[in-house]
Amino acid sequence: MTTPDKSVAWYKEEIGEIPASGQDLLDRYSSIPAEDLAQHLFKMRDKAWNIAPYPCIGSWLFLKPSISQSPIYAEILARLQEKDQRLLDLGCCVGQDIRKLVLDGAPAEHIYGLDLKAGLMDAGYDLFRDRDSLRSTFIAADILDDSSSSSPELRELDGQIDIVFAGSFFHVFDWDAQMRISKRLARLMRSVPGSLVFGHHLGHVAPDTYPLGLGAGSVYAHDEGSLQRMWTQVGLETESKWRVEAELEGTGMRVGFTKEGKWGDPGRRYMRFVVWRE
Ligand SMILES: C[S@@+](CC[C@H](N)C(=O)[O-])C[C@H]1O[C@@H](n2cnc3c(N)ncnc32)[C@H](O)[C@@H]1O
Repeated sequence: MTTPDKSVAWYKEEIGEIPASGQDLLDRYSSIPAEDLAQHLFKMRDKAWNIAPYPCIGSWLFLKPSISQSPIYAEILARLQEKDQRLLDLGCCVGQDIRKLVLDGAPAEHIYGLDLKAGLMDAGYDLFRDRDSLRSTFIAADILDDSSSSSPELRELDGQIDIVFAGSFFHVFDWDAQMRISKRLARLMRSVPGSLVFGHHLGHVAPDTYPLGLGAGSVYAHDEGSLQRMWTQVGLETESKWRVEAELEGTGMRVGFTKEGKWGDPGRRYMRFVVWRE
């Protein structure tokens, strides 16, 4: 088996400073002794890298659960704890955000992780040392596959999910793929007002189609208006209604490719969003 190239810019040799939320997870959730930690993390990172050499693995971003940074995190936790609601982490990778929810008191059995790569979800059990204890469900499936041979485990959840978390997920897809994913989510979600999709990704001050880079196709980067336009269309095509709340944050990120294919687009912004079913 050939191992993925480690000379790429997003493979960071050193761990650097582990964000407080990730350190807390490793200490209090996984109980990994401080003296074993570095060796454990290097071993686990390489295991995940050999499965999927993504920037979030190479740059150690999986040590930074991001779900709790959402302004509605307290509401999400309360809905999981008090109302028996169910959450799906879309593109969950090694499942750091699922462990964060569980550490914060959410019932694990109401949480589902979905990812294309079964190996990443499996590596998560070793990373967080909870193979025998975590009672969440992980489903290996392609959210874009809506055929009759698509994952039966996922189809069984149709109409039962109250909350979808999508962290750094939508921004790697073009408009058409985002539409297909969103329509699939509309079917997965409970058909009642208050069901919601929330998360974050890279947006743009000039919403449009941009190159993904390396000849790998294109992505659609949103602002609030374009995201609402997309979900209005999702609603029209699925007989449902959705309201978007989103904001672009920060300046000067200089990531992603410009229209002309130059790396370091100054128009990119971090975007948080919540899409409410009405
Ligand atoms: C950029 S990572 C984000 C991981 C994590 N949510 C986070 O915030 O760090 C995107 C994840 O989505 C998964 N993914 C990509 N395409 C997918 C698809 N069509 N269906 C399901 N998962 C997919 C990838 O395997 C990867 O783990």
